[in-house]
Amino acid sequence: MDQRLARDPAAIRAMFQEVAPRYDLLNRALSLRQDVRWRRRLVAALGEAPAGPVLDLATGTGDVALAVRDRVVIGGDFSLPMLELAGRKARRFGRLVAWVAADALALPFKAASFAAVTAAFGVRNFVDLAVGFREIGRVLVPGGILAVLELHRPRRTVVAGIVRIWNRFVVTPVGRLVSHDGDAYGYLPASVDTFPDRVEMAEVLRGQGFAVLESRDLSGGVAALTVARWEGA
Ligand SMILES: C[S@@+](CC[C@H](N)C(=O)[O-])C[C@H]1O[C@@H](n2cnc3c(N)ncnc32)[C@H](O)[C@@H]1O
Repeated sequence: MDQRLARDPAAIRAMFQEVAPRYDLLNRALSLRQDVRWRRRLVAALGEAPAGPVLDLATGTGDVALAVRDRVVIGGDFSLPMLELAGRKARRFGRLVAWVAADALALPFKAASFAAVTAAFGVRNFVDLAVGFREIGRVLVPGGILAVLELHRPRRTVVAGIVRIWNRFVVTPVGRLVSHDGDAYGYLPASVDTFPDRVEMAEVLRGQGFAVLESRDLSGGVAALTVARWEGA
C-alpha cells in the first residue's frame, strides 16, 4: 500500500474519487454480491433507532441511503464524484435524498441532529477512529443508534486464510485492472489488516460513550455488523 494513504485524508479522498465510476461494479463482483445482503442487515438495524432523520455517513454511491425507507435521509461523503453518482442513482430511482459534502471527523451538522447514523465500509478509512465515533455521537440524539457495516480481520483463522488468498489473487489484481488505480485495491486489504477487529472496535465505541448492542460476524466473519447506542456526552 502507498504509505501516504495510511495517514493522509486528501490521498484517501483522491483515491475514492479515482475509483468512483467503477465502484459499484467492483463491490458486487469482489464480494460475490454479498455486499447487497450485508447492507440489508445494516438497514434493518435502524429498527432499534428512535423516530427521526438518518445520516448515512461515507455514503459513497448511496446504496445504504437509498435502501432506507420511511425516514428523512441525508447521505454525507467527502468525495464529490461519489456524491454525484449517488445523486444520479437517486434520480433514476425517483428517490429524494439530501447529499451533503461532509468530512466525518468534522461534520457540518448541529449537535443531536440525527436519530441514527449508518456507515458501510466507511469507518475503516477514518484517519482517527475514536475522533470519528465521538463526532458521530455529537450529531446523534441521546439514545440514537450508530450502525456500522465493516470489513474486519476475520477472527477465525480458516476464514482469515481464505480472505487473504481471495485478496491476493482476486481483489488486488482485478481491482487494479478494472479501476485503473494501482493503489486502491491494494489499499483495501491493507486497510483491513491494520484496522481493529470487530471486538476491538466495540471497545473503541465504548470508550467514546456508546453502549454496544450488537457485534456480529457476517458471512463467517468476512464482514461484521456493529450496532451501538449513543449514551450521551
Ligand atoms: C468503501 S466506500 C463505501 C461507500 C458506501 N457506504 C457503500 O456502502 O458502498 C468508502 C467511502 O467513504 C468515504 N470516506 C472516507 N473517509 C471519509 C471521511 N473522513 N469523511 C467522509 N467520507 C469519507 C469515501 O469517500 C468513500 O466514498
